[in-house]
Amino acid sequence: MRKMNSAGTATFFAAAMVVAGFLFAGQLTAQNARIKIDIDRQIGEVNKNIYGNFVEHLGRCVYGGIYDEGSPLADESGIRLDVLEAAKGLNVPLTRYPGGNFVSNYHWKDGVGPKDERPARMELAWARLESNRFGTNEFIDFARRMGTEPYFAVNLGTGTIEEAQQWVEYCNVKEGPYYAELRKQHGYAEPHNITYWSLGNEMDGFWQMGHLNAEDYSKKAREAAKLMKLTSPEIKLVAAGSSNYRPDADPNEWNATILHELRDVVDYIALHIYVGNVADNYYNYLSTPLVLEERTQIVKGMILKEMAYAQRESDDPIYIAWDEYNVWYRARVGEDMTGERALEEHYNLEDALVIAGFLNAFIRNADVVKMANMAQLVNVIAPIFTSETDMFKQTIYYPLALFANNVFGTALDVAVDCETYDTEEFFIGLAESKTTQEDVPFLDVSATYDDGQVVLCVVNRNKDQAITTDLIAQEGLFDGEYEVYEVNGPDSKAQNDFAKTLVETKSKPALTVKKADKMTYAFPPHSFTMIKGALKN
Ligand code: AHR
Repeated sequence: MRKMNSAGTATFFAAAMVVAGFLFAGQLTAQNARIKIDIDRQIGEVNKNIYGNFVEHLGRCVYGGIYDEGSPLADESGIRLDVLEAAKGLNVPLTRYPGGNFVSNYHWKDGVGPKDERPARMELAWARLESNRFGTNEFIDFARRMGTEPYFAVNLGTGTIEEAQQWVEYCNVKEGPYYAELRKQHGYAEPHNITYWSLGNEMDGFWQMGHLNAEDYSKKAREAAKLMKLTSPEIKLVAAGSSNYRPDADPNEWNATILHELRDVVDYIALHIYVGNVADNYYNYLSTPLVLEERTQIVKGMILKEMAYAQRESDDPIYIAWDEYNVWYRARVGEDMTGERALEEHYNLEDALVIAGFLNAFIRNADVVKMANMAQLVNVIAPIFTSETDMFKQTIYYPLALFANNVFGTALDVAVDCETYDTEEFFIGLAESKTTQEDVPFLDVSATYDDGQVVLCVVNRNKDQAITTDLIAQEGLFDGEYEVYEVNGPDSKAQNDFAKTLVETKSKPALTVKKADKMTYAFPPHSFTMIKGALKN
């Protein structure tokens, strides 16, 4: 890696270069770089569940988001059809529900049966009145129409292990016991067959209703897991790993304890991350996906240690589920944190580049990251944003859609040779500790290989300059047409809005290569680019 200062000042290649016709006239390239792709250097299989999403009873995610009774944009069941359509574009394999902090005081029985008989409750996590008109069965109906698999979180805050067991019975047992029969009475003859269940939410956080220490959480989670698995043996369980990275927290201690205690019974450990450009420093902010990667590596080490001694029924090791990740810092104080309009973050291009960086990091760690859920789907820190009469796609929609519709197969360990920069010490988010990142590559890269096709995903973090890059095949040859897609906008602060799309995916002219082990591309400033085509042996 070659070092350059963080302002991105040119150190060499001062002359204008026109490469393969893909530079705009007069555009300067300050840097050059190489990406070497070797299909024999494999990391692991990409699990489609890394493109998951999340629906919580919070603000306008459910009510006024996916569900809007009486709206002209909704059908007779209350589902907003414009939102459903946009959500389908994200090809979401798995959707977490119903929270989030909400779940830690949610009693699922409130949300089933005839709607008009359901009790309204005080919602204490985000200060709303919860009507319970949307619950288990409404979510299942929505999920089936969206083509996504439901992933439920049980209440291990104020809830009991018995209540968790009864929910699994209601959802997964065909007939016979009381709660299975109750589901049938509610109009669902067939079980919902929910495979993925998480054992509480952010139980390490002091803000969590019913917060526990690591030992007490492990005991409660182990007993809940026992009852849930006895009820439905095929389910997969997710332990609530670290979410609290405040300066006074000890996330590694939490993860080490719960992995040790739950190593025989859980299938995943959930981690959460929210970042933001708190001090308005573009280059610091763009490095935040590396923090996610560091945390992944630390937890991977802990998992390896525990797996050496575990006695598991499953042949698989514990995997990591980043089951909440996003940018969240603007709508994170005061009135923006509660009520009907909570957490309505408005995203820009730099946020979209950070999301692309997170997705690249999931691919680069495909051996251990087998699930991830953007938080959340609609209105609440979300890629889709509604009003009563309209909807628009936020900037972060576009990289997620590109990945979720294209990036599958085997993750490759690519070699990237490009300029790097160091950050200052900075807070990675509003409720996070500080970090300093060294040797941050200006090009953030992942690659996958599937059935003779390679997909290369590249964030150019350089705010001002294109990076002309040789793409080199170490094995086999490039041959044919290569599709090129770019997420970009006029500047790093560009935002979308109702009837205004400044940041979106654009299809660029295809690259044409004839049996060559090299092609060259200039990645534009502040962009995310996906290149897709054949790599022939
Ligand atoms: O996604 C918003 C909130 O962030 C979730 O409810 C909680 O789990 C996390 O703190």
